[in-house]
Amino acid sequence: MKIIVCENYDEMSKEGAKIIAALLKEKPDCILGLATGSTPVGMYKELAEMNKAGEITFKNVTSYNLDEYYPLAPDHDQSYRYFMNQNLFNNVDIDIAKTHVPDGLAEDPAAMGAAYDAEIEAAGGIDLQVLGLGPNGHIAFNEPEDELYVGTHLTGLTDSTIEANSRFFASKADVPTQAVTMGIGTIMKAKKIVVLASGKAKHAVIEKMMDGRITTQVPGTILKCHPDVVLICDKAAMEG
Ligand code: GLP
Repeated sequence: MKIIVCENYDEMSKEGAKIIAALLKEKPDCILGLATGSTPVGMYKELAEMNKAGEITFKNVTSYNLDEYYPLAPDHDQSYRYFMNQNLFNNVDIDIAKTHVPDGLAEDPAAMGAAYDAEIEAAGGIDLQVLGLGPNGHIAFNEPEDELYVGTHLTGLTDSTIEANSRFFASKADVPTQAVTMGIGTIMKAKKIVVLASGKAKHAVIEKMMDGRITTQVPGTILKCHPDVVLICDKAAMEG
């Protein structure tokens, strides 16, 4: 795992954007795996500016998002589909038909998950997956558990994640208690993974990312087994 420590959030965002921009130039029809949360917002802004300046184009890009709350409609203002439209898709020249977010209203989430994974594979696989880290070490919505799922699936959210994500909802009671999420296998199949982490609240997870062990209780640690991971964090996340 390559580690880049940045001075602050802005620098982290620029570093992340640089890596994605390089891929877009090298492979304009690449497949991006995208993440939500506060962490990648700055990077998405950078990318939108680069796009506006004509430095990069998303015209031929296909994207697959990690996860979506369940049950939640795509037009709900807290859905991850809505988040992606607001924070990236509406601000760049991507073809919205080529953007994918797991269906938060799927009647049969297991079938939807299997189809999502099959579609990614048929498209040629994810070239670059963006990831954040939950304060408890979750990636996408793969929460700390004794056993983790390989493929895209329906999952329950831990109380700590509901609490952490309640800042975006009117109240904690409004946060869905379930989500559909790519599994660890879906994520690990990506050719390259870029993990972003900012702020003191992520320090404990970053420490776990640095030792020589993996545990399903901190799902992010499994990324240590991937051959091409770049962890970009700021000083606050690295030093606590
Ligand atoms: C959510 C998302 C994760 C994200 C995490 C961290 O739970 N499912 O993909 O990494 O939040 O969010 P933030 O970046 O806001 O700290």
